[in-house]
Amino acid sequence: MDSVNFMSGYRCPVCGGRMSLKMGKSLVCDAKKAHVFDLARSGYVNLSQKQSATGDSKEAVWARSTFFELDPYRSLRQELVRLSQTYLAPGKAALDAGCGEGYYTNAMASACPDSFFFGVDLSKYAVDHAAKEAKRLAAGRVCYAVASVSDLPFYDRTFSLVTSVFAPCDEEEFFRVLEPGGVLVLAAAGPGHLLGLKRLLYEHPYLNEERRDLPQDRQLLFKKRISDRIEVEGEERISALFEMTPYFWRTREADREKLKGLQTLQTEVEFDLYVYQKDT
Ligand SMILES: C[S@@+](CC[C@H](N)C(=O)[O-])C[C@H]1O[C@@H](n2cnc3c(N)ncnc32)[C@H](O)[C@@H]1O
Ligand SMILES: [Zn+2]
Repeated sequence: MDSVNFMSGYRCPVCGGRMSLKMGKSLVCDAKKAHVFDLARSGYVNLSQKQSATGDSKEAVWARSTFFELDPYRSLRQELVRLSQTYLAPGKAALDAGCGEGYYTNAMASACPDSFFFGVDLSKYAVDHAAKEAKRLAAGRVCYAVASVSDLPFYDRTFSLVTSVFAPCDEEEFFRVLEPGGVLVLAAAGPGHLLGLKRLLYEHPYLNEERRDLPQDRQLLFKKRISDRIEVEGEERISALFEMTPYFWRTREADREKLKGLQTLQTEVEFDLYVYQKDT
């Protein structure tokens, strides 16, 4: 991949043709009757074919971006940056599948200025935020698209690195777009993730179970657990944290009330990273 044709990394979601950037504002495929995808003002492109599939709502995106303002998951971010620097050679490309607001994608892109980054997410609100942040941070060669992790708009063997952080895993698609020897990093909640929050909410807080959708017959290079403690200040940020967790939907109204008026929350955060390699 070279910087002039950076966006030709995309595969047309309609006909499979190669895409290129025209006039700096549209992605156009090479079919005779070309398919055209206009870039949004922030710079992302919508390549999703299913109008019914939407990903996270505006509210969920707002909750995550408000929570991330103080960099609370910096321990995970730092580890992902380290892994991207380890596994991504200059000139090579990485994909963050289910990238959300680009909190990790933009950090990795900033730390690897000689490589190329793509982020996809089904939520247009999330990628819009991610693309704006990339501009603000001058995060370099990073492109965002609305697309599903189960129908990635890329050719086979495009990426040296695929990351999937708290997002749905489509093993077949991830390994299809990885080049031989490429690396997949999956990040999930560890057993003790947000235990401090759960202690406040529930009488008998439970530990998280291991993710069920982990690849089974792939080469696991290693697994790493990251544990940290964080302090979240302010009712708005605490409630934003709660809203971005799966517990938000499962918690009874009476238990939700326990967070009202809370100004400081101290909690464990724990992340499990699974690093796989595609056979050469
Ligand atoms: C919990 S968030 C994680 C976002 C980001 N990786 C992070 O950790 O900040 C899960 C994300 O997956 C996206 N998502 C859900 N289903 C998806 C799919 N089939 N394809 C692409 N993205 C999807 C949601 O829109 C949401 O942004
Ligand atoms: Zn096309």
